[in-house]
Amino acid sequence: MRRHGHEVETEPIRAEREWSKWLLPIPLLPLLPVLPLYLASGRFRRFWHRHHYQPRQAIRPLAHADLSGFDLVLLGTPKWLYLSYPVARWLDVISGLEGKAVGAFATFCGPPLEVFEIDMLFEPLEARLRSRGALPAGRLGMSSDYHEYFFFGEMRSLFRWLSRKAYGRPLADFTLDGAVGKAALARFCADILRDSK
Ligand SMILES: Cc1cc2nc3c(=O)[nH]c(=O)nc-3n(C[C@H](O)[C@H](O)[C@H](O)COP(=O)(O)O)c2cc1C
Repeated sequence: MRRHGHEVETEPIRAEREWSKWLLPIPLLPLLPVLPLYLASGRFRRFWHRHHYQPRQAIRPLAHADLSGFDLVLLGTPKWLYLSYPVARWLDVISGLEGKAVGAFATFCGPPLEVFEIDMLFEPLEARLRSRGALPAGRLGMSSDYHEYFFFGEMRSLFRWLSRKAYGRPLADFTLDGAVGKAALARFCADILRDSK
């Protein structure tokens, strides 16, 4: 955005107190038994997105707690199955989103699998944005090729395998340094700049 001549201010959303990484997934476990149904049925997904429990985590005071003075807001989050807990809290406390275009971007370990990564994160995120009066304006999902679990990078190995299986490409292609990731980032910026003119 800066390269396109825009003035940009950034603000990290930080948890007041970090939680142990082994506690973070506990509130997410209810999805596991119904995951096959979630993946298979769009109707069930819509139901799940309306009713699932989104954990929240207290965040540190914000320098920009009111965004009404900005032309455009870009919100980034890691995927913690859904929204990360500090970002979910940010969406509760932030003001000035009414009528504001908000582009959302996220990192997750895996390739941008349409349902498991993209919809699972962005559908509830955009619903939350709309409920705050904001206008969702684009999605960017990027692999970090990194996963916190479990002991020997098992989850990362699983996603690397899935990337080859689903796309015939290495997971690295979908990161910020990879060809697909770079193209997705350029498209995201171009679309947002065009639409928010
Ligand atoms: C609680 C939790 C849940 C996660 N869920 C997913 C997931 O559903 N899919 C995925 O690909 N990665 C998942 N990850 C991995 C993170 O999304 C990934 O490592 C992310 O890039 C971390 O970003 P950060 O380094 O900015 O924190 C999860 C990580 C945590 C801690």
